[in-house]
Amino acid sequence: MITRINQLFLLETSEITYCFKVLASGHLEHLYFGKKITVDESYDVLTEKVEYIGGNMISYSEEFSKLGLEDRCLEFSTLGKGDIREAFVGIIKMDGSTTCDFLFQSARIEHEKEMLTTLPCSYFSKEEETNQENKQCLIVTLKDKNYGITMELIYTVFEDCHCITRSVRIQNESEEEIEIDRIMSMQLDFPESDYKIRSFHGAWAREMEWEDRSASHGIFIIDSKTGTSSNRNNPFFMVSKEDTTEDAGECYGFNLIYSGNHYAACEVNAMDKLHVISGIQPAGFGYTLKKGEMFESPEAVMTCSNLGYGGMSQQMHLFVKEHIVRGEWKEKKRPVLMNSWEANYFKFNEHKLIKQAEVGAAHGIELFVLDDGWFGKREDDTSSLGDWQENTKKLKGGLSYLAEKINALGMQFGIWVEPEMINEDSECFRNHPDWIVKSPKGEQSLGRNQLILDLTKPEVRDYIITEMSRVFSSANISYVKWDMNRIFSDTYSTTLAPKEQKEFLHRYIIGLYEVLDKLTTAFPHILFESCASGGNRFDLGMLCYMPQIWASDNTDAISRAKIQMGYSFGYPISVIGAHVSGCPNHQTLRNTSIDTRFEVAAFGLLGYECNIGDLTEEESKAVKNQIAFYKNYRETCQFGNFYRIETGENGIYQWMVVSKDQKEAVGLFLQEKGKANQSFGKFKAKGLMMDKKYHFSNRAKVFNIKEFGDLINMISPIHIKKDSLAHNVIAKYKKMNSETENGIAYGDVFCNAGVKLKQAFSGTGYNDEMRLFGDYASRMYLWEEIE
Ligand code: DGJ
Repeated sequence: MITRINQLFLLETSEITYCFKVLASGHLEHLYFGKKITVDESYDVLTEKVEYIGGNMISYSEEFSKLGLEDRCLEFSTLGKGDIREAFVGIIKMDGSTTCDFLFQSARIEHEKEMLTTLPCSYFSKEEETNQENKQCLIVTLKDKNYGITMELIYTVFEDCHCITRSVRIQNESEEEIEIDRIMSMQLDFPESDYKIRSFHGAWAREMEWEDRSASHGIFIIDSKTGTSSNRNNPFFMVSKEDTTEDAGECYGFNLIYSGNHYAACEVNAMDKLHVISGIQPAGFGYTLKKGEMFESPEAVMTCSNLGYGGMSQQMHLFVKEHIVRGEWKEKKRPVLMNSWEANYFKFNEHKLIKQAEVGAAHGIELFVLDDGWFGKREDDTSSLGDWQENTKKLKGGLSYLAEKINALGMQFGIWVEPEMINEDSECFRNHPDWIVKSPKGEQSLGRNQLILDLTKPEVRDYIITEMSRVFSSANISYVKWDMNRIFSDTYSTTLAPKEQKEFLHRYIIGLYEVLDKLTTAFPHILFESCASGGNRFDLGMLCYMPQIWASDNTDAISRAKIQMGYSFGYPISVIGAHVSGCPNHQTLRNTSIDTRFEVAAFGLLGYECNIGDLTEEESKAVKNQIAFYKNYRETCQFGNFYRIETGENGIYQWMVVSKDQKEAVGLFLQEKGKANQSFGKFKAKGLMMDKKYHFSNRAKVFNIKEFGDLINMISPIHIKKDSLAHNVIAKYKKMNSETENGIAYGDVFCNAGVKLKQAFSGTGYNDEMRLFGDYASRMYLWEEIE
């Protein structure tokens, strides 16, 4: 709900309040963002009281001599009139002046979402469509005092998830050209600075590690300069009070709907106020606006909860599920897939793939995805990107024949593409050497042996759209993995004049969005999965087109637990692709059991990325059980509400996903290292209905007797040598079932007291009611409401 009370603008939901007012000078003073408060005409208590300007500070004007912009909480900061904090917007005028002075002109409240025209943005979902009151946008217009430049601040309130989005439009109404030197999407000023900032950094195969640091004087920057939103620093970050925990305390979450270079700065100024901004990376950026031209910034989203990180995450998850992800697949169950990459890399042929698919089908796989290597003469990563014709040496009958074969097995068929890229060794490059991004001296350094196509060129975008449309229609293709495996270098485009070169990276992203928009609109039935060497473009921009993202090339269950949990702070698990792969794991060489691999992957969109045909008989049975189990609980696992209970400190992870109607829940208990003599275990649930009764159980599994090594001799009448033939024969026929949990209690018991689990094996004896819980062990628990 958005209300105007005199000079005050009040944006609120049932849980949060955001408000600002127009000062007599025309500047916008930010008054409050936080837990819901009752604001009426008496909002004066929220305004900062100043009788004398601070020493050594700039006084805004003779008329408003007490106004020192340096030390006011504002809706936006600009340089030149006394505000010396990180600027929200910076514009260089024709005369060289960099001073900006935007003052309030007017404001209007709209009952439609103000959509961006060049960039993807959030949207009102069905809920709001039926309730006009919840469908509001505020557009505040400001004009530069001395130049003909208009700035519109656009605010949208999302009642269901307690999120507010912001974006900015700059319009050049002057006769002369101007250059936008920097433009942010959101600014939030806090009157104090006792906050900590959590950012999510990483690298390839090590995405979304997090770090907390106290807000302190100076500037802390979370950014990317890769040309992508990047695995180096994700655009999502959090600001919370020092004592905020997972379940309690003030927590703010911020994200940007953008897939290119981003920038967030958290600055504590000399007066101990915290200033937070986020938007497009200003380094290397600039944008020229001719007379009459307009520029819009990406949309930023912010939310705030008093229920700790967990409360904030719940709100962000809902925002992404309801207002970012769109199209046919928004709420459609995602198929259990099998991806050919780690099973084959580039080494496959039609026969081999069909055999693998047959095995997959027999295990319950629903979608077979042919990853890299199917086109041109691609035998490794040095050639053929750009040549999107089947490699008929590998696929004799082409994609359509393979798709038919896969479909005949009762499975859907999907493929991998990397359309933004080209290899020097390709027909496409030989025919169009001028299509690549290259410096004026003709260079582009390589990344994974490949070059980036210049998506600011219309002919390149047309080529990609035509080629991809041809490929997607050439066979019965139900799924597409859209990959992007290098970051930018030598950024320069012949489509742009020298002084426009700073626009390149942003224009590339606009070009990419145009391509994605056309293709996803033309192929609405296809399930698209975004990927960029795993999580190098895990962002809300890509999620506006593709409902899921391959989270990391690291498929090791233990690494994945951390990575998936990192994502979970800002993104719902319904957008996270997660696969079971072979062991030792290809990225870490770690061995984990097939069940641990499954149980971690099931807290994402489940897939298998290994040679299922090479599994042992025991593992193969386990996989069949896993898939059958997952299908039973898929709705909950994919679209339920995700909660973190234990977050990996001391090597323990406990998570829970609860169905929307709260009648069913699935929990994960994962341990990195086993400890001697630690038999006690507890699982304190979250998200259940307090006054409803649930049946509690665990997912049954079977252990190999060899896990006990030579302890077998404690029960064997004859001596058995470890790994001997006798040991293997016994292991083949004698299986050990996991313990069974079986309890009934009210939701409040599970949530407030927690369930005490079966005793873990601790070296003093064993029977089948004990929990075998060593290194990398995991369990899945279930709660089902009893009528
Ligand atoms: C990087 C992706 O993240 C992998 O899953 C795989 O598709 C390879 N590219 C293929 O080249």
